[in-house]
Amino acid sequence: MDRDTYRVAILGCRGRGRAAALAYHDHPRTKIVGLCDLIEERVDALGQQIDVTERFTNLNEMIDQTAPDIVAIPTGTEFHHGLCMAVLEHRVHIEVEKPMCIDLVQADDIISKAERQGSKVAVHHQGRVSPAMQTLQHAVNQGLIGNIRYIYGSGKGYYGGYGLMNIGTHMINNMLRFGGSCRSVVAQATTKGQPITPQDVVPSPSGMGTIACEHLTATLQFDNDVTATLLQHRFDKMDTSAYVMEIYGSEGRLFWKGNNAWWLPQPHYFPNVQQWETLDLVVPNHYKSDNQSDPSDYCFVDDYVRALDEDDEHECSGYEGRHVLEIMMGVFESAARGKRVLLPQKDRGHPLLRWRTEFGLGKLEPLPRDYGNWLSTQVD
Ligand SMILES: NC(=O)c1ccc[n+]([C@@H]2O[C@H](COP(=O)([O-])OP(=O)(O)OC[C@H]3O[C@@H](n4cnc5c(N)ncnc54)[C@H](O)[C@@H]3O)[C@@H](O)[C@H]2O)c1
Repeated sequence: MDRDTYRVAILGCRGRGRAAALAYHDHPRTKIVGLCDLIEERVDALGQQIDVTERFTNLNEMIDQTAPDIVAIPTGTEFHHGLCMAVLEHRVHIEVEKPMCIDLVQADDIISKAERQGSKVAVHHQGRVSPAMQTLQHAVNQGLIGNIRYIYGSGKGYYGGYGLMNIGTHMINNMLRFGGSCRSVVAQATTKGQPITPQDVVPSPSGMGTIACEHLTATLQFDNDVTATLLQHRFDKMDTSAYVMEIYGSEGRLFWKGNNAWWLPQPHYFPNVQQWETLDLVVPNHYKSDNQSDPSDYCFVDDYVRALDEDDEHECSGYEGRHVLEIMMGVFESAARGKRVLLPQKDRGHPLLRWRTEFGLGKLEPLPRDYGNWLSTQVD
């Protein structure tokens, strides 16, 4: 499929819908042909901002009338599976916000349907293709740090299990770019200072399925002796400055934070002996200074254009999104059972729900969707 311009429809016109729309609007090879939201005022607000008049409140009408190549699905996570399945009926390519969905049964379902329909799936983990991450990749390719040995990544201080689903999904996907496939995981998980029990399993805020653990530390095992540590610890106060990744190589290190990338030309850091060097960012030359979109979202769109041109998978494909979920479900399983979990797992059901069932515990009671309200039910 190689077109001058790919036609794009946006399903969901709130925060992330606006971010996606701006990126597809700015990119010279994509054109937004339709907008849809259940709430008409949201469609109108976004339509006015990017000057799109084809506005809908029904997804089937939008797709039938606008014939898009790609449909973006930036809605709440609990709706991802149902909406992906409905949109794939139309044999279009999709991109869905992260996390891809809430368990592996759903992820398998989406991938199988996409394969049957001849559609591509991308998961909006834009960090993995961001200018900073491409800069790190360039540094690795140039041999600046030798062979990768180890990767470290931390969250922002959300309640651990929720941090895993919400932020860990991005971090794990970043790690996959450098580590390749993950073969096994081992996790330590505590709530209120004690190892978790089946009673600590709860519904996630923001519709992200089922979670447990206030403080979560996981180790991931990749090929070629590469390992990674992933921290999702609840802080008393959220701290976005903790959201960093560091790659340790045999000859040096790389450090990522937000829109920045640094290089240490030594494998070990000693204060006052060496300094970290700032790396120049790799940004597409067609990203203009007056573009309104976030450069990472723009790069995500750019990689979809490349993938469709070359009949290739997006760097953040559905296969990668499902592997991220395998790792997250493996982390929960290891946290529950206190043992190494090999991937991919045969049992695709949610491991925390299986654990509760084995202990004779029934259905979970609903909790608030909003994170602040949810947290007040868990932490004194
Ligand atoms: N990639 C990132 O950096 C990032 C950042 C924040 C959130 N997210 C993810 O984005 C998603 C939520 O994004 P948001 O905060 O904009 O969501 P939101 O719930 O605020 O907005 C979703 C919009 O979709 C609409 N919608 C829902 N179902 C619909 C349907 N059937 N038809 C038409 N419209 C429908 C809703 O009315 C709403 O306006 C979550 O999955 C979250 O994890 C990603």
